[in-house]
Amino acid sequence: MSTQTIRQPAEATRRPHLFSPLRAGVLDLSHRVAMAPLTRMRAGPDETPRPLNATYYGQRASAGGLIIAEASQVHPTGRGALNTPGIHTPGQIAGWKAITEAVHARGGQIFLQLWHMGRVSHPSYQPGGALPVAPSPIAADIKVMTASGTPEPMPTPRALTDAEIHELIGVYRRAGLNALEAGFDGVEIHGANGYLLEQFLQSRSNQRDDHWGGSIENRARLLLEVTRSLVAACGAERVAVRLSPFGVANGSGEDEPMPLYSHVVGQLAPMGLAYLHLIEPRASGAGQREVDHQGVPSAAELFRPLWPGVLISAGNYTGDMAEETIAAGNADIIAFGRHFTSNPDLPDRLRTGAPLTPYDRPTFYGGDIRGYTDFPKADGQAA
Ligand code: FNR
Repeated sequence: MSTQTIRQPAEATRRPHLFSPLRAGVLDLSHRVAMAPLTRMRAGPDETPRPLNATYYGQRASAGGLIIAEASQVHPTGRGALNTPGIHTPGQIAGWKAITEAVHARGGQIFLQLWHMGRVSHPSYQPGGALPVAPSPIAADIKVMTASGTPEPMPTPRALTDAEIHELIGVYRRAGLNALEAGFDGVEIHGANGYLLEQFLQSRSNQRDDHWGGSIENRARLLLEVTRSLVAACGAERVAVRLSPFGVANGSGEDEPMPLYSHVVGQLAPMGLAYLHLIEPRASGAGQREVDHQGVPSAAELFRPLWPGVLISAGNYTGDMAEETIAAGNADIIAFGRHFTSNPDLPDRLRTGAPLTPYDRPTFYGGDIRGYTDFPKADGQAA
């Protein structure tokens, strides 16, 4: 008679749906707690990721867990804040390599969020001090922090030409290939929070009269073309999209989101992407404020019927809400943002019910190790 080892559950799991395995494109996950993309403004010179960033991401990696690395500019014109990383130079690719290695060494998986800020920028961040670019010359109705640290009204951007828009699709494609070269498992296209691709989607920022503007089909064209181009270059199972259909970040907001976003999600649906990532309207999608809107729709519930693949939902989740959302079938993965800043072992804490360390907003954006790599694990040990 052969002896068989009877496998015991590793440890009691309080939230069995959140801690069940899942395949999402190339991702082979053992739980559904993902780290949301979080801009921390701590890259090194030339927008190059540095060893400190590798320590930070390595601390937050978990076996079979997904990290979506922070928004990273695909081109020098995509920049609009200090010390955000890029993914368009050999040095940046090399810098990211150390990060993907640190995450993979702990059994984690990591996508990179591809970003172009468009009109949410300022000449002080632009090559040659030029105006930021956008679908139309319409300024976002908010203030911008210039590179010298003074708040100023957003400048009126310059509208991209048709030829430049075609070039931009190639820029995203190149950035996706760069990300794979850096060891990322895939890329998430940033189509949310008022940045360039969302500026094209929404009528308040896109008033073009060519085939990139006007109708919903035209406004959605750039996001869809960028996605198709990345799918062709990287494989659909390594490409994902993030959207904020009800978001108002960075001067954005569509008065009637459902027709626009139903079209976008419907067009993305047959592409076989790794996942679709939606930000819930109860949260501040870009994390800039502490809000918890009540009585607002659930993006995951609304768009779930239109999306045949893996769905990630983000925004103001607690462990119990995450478990309920997965159990109800409204999403497959929950992305956590702010809690991951102060809880490097967040998946473990949510699994065991260990208390969470409160996050520290003053150290979110920019600075050094403080508020970045100095949060311990639940047992008090270094992460
Ligand atoms: C963010 N968020 C964000 N979103 C995004 O798509 N790309 C990014 O780079 C960032 N950067 C970022 C930085 C910081 C410090 C915060 C707090 C937030 C938004 C984030 O991914 C998430 O959608 C929100 O924080 C809501 O989720 P939580 O924090 O309620 O779990």
